[in-house]
Amino acid sequence: MAVSVQRIQPGEWQALRDIRLRSLLDSPEAFGQRYDEAAAGTDEDWVANARASAEGDRRIWFLAQDDLGAIVGVVQARRRPPSDCLLFSMWVAPKARRLRVGAMLVDAVQDWSTSWGARRVVLWVLAANEPAMRFYDRIGFSILKDGPDADSGRAYGAFAMERLRPV
Ligand SMILES: CC(C)(COP(=O)(O)OP(=O)(O)OC[C@H]1O[C@@H](n2cnc3c(N)ncnc32)[C@H](O)[C@@H]1OP(=O)(O)O)[C@@H](O)C(=O)NCCC(=O)NCCS
Repeated sequence: MAVSVQRIQPGEWQALRDIRLRSLLDSPEAFGQRYDEAAAGTDEDWVANARASAEGDRRIWFLAQDDLGAIVGVVQARRRPPSDCLLFSMWVAPKARRLRVGAMLVDAVQDWSTSWGARRVVLWVLAANEPAMRFYDRIGFSILKDGPDADSGRAYGAFAMERLRPV
């Protein structure tokens, strides 16, 4: 399966809604948002979300597409001044797992964040989500043991992890 990763286009709100809802149905335990909360969003909400993420350096969604045009992965990131990029909503469709799609999505986030001067990518992963922990560890993230991000994660059973900008 050949997969490419692209920043969302302004008009791709239905693709975004579909894959986000699929991810929340498939992996409800992995995310802070519930399926019914996301499903309650109006078309206007999704339109605005896609549009705001399609340009600029404040926020972004990347979509991974296979060679038949199916969306098989998604990730969201946001800028946190002065120099952090926060990564959320990471999901790869079961049929596309272990093909480096997840690694490509994270690399796309890191490349985008480097373009506006980010020093690192930060994320939270629930401690019970061992496959994701192993994934992030394998692609170069390390657990933050101290500091506000570690503390805020601990409060809901999650680890904060970071990957520094490549030198
Ligand atoms: C975690 C997830 C995003 C990984 O995506 P993926 O595309 O399968 O990952 P990759 O193929 O890029 O994996 C890269 C490496 O990470 C490690 N890895 C990935 N998934 C793993 C798993 N389930 N168990 C152990 N190691 C894993 C492997 O070392 C892998 O390399 P290899 O296949 O050559 O051994 C995917 O399993 C997923 O969507 N899970 C459900 C949602 C979720 O938990 N999201 C994270 C929320 S914080």
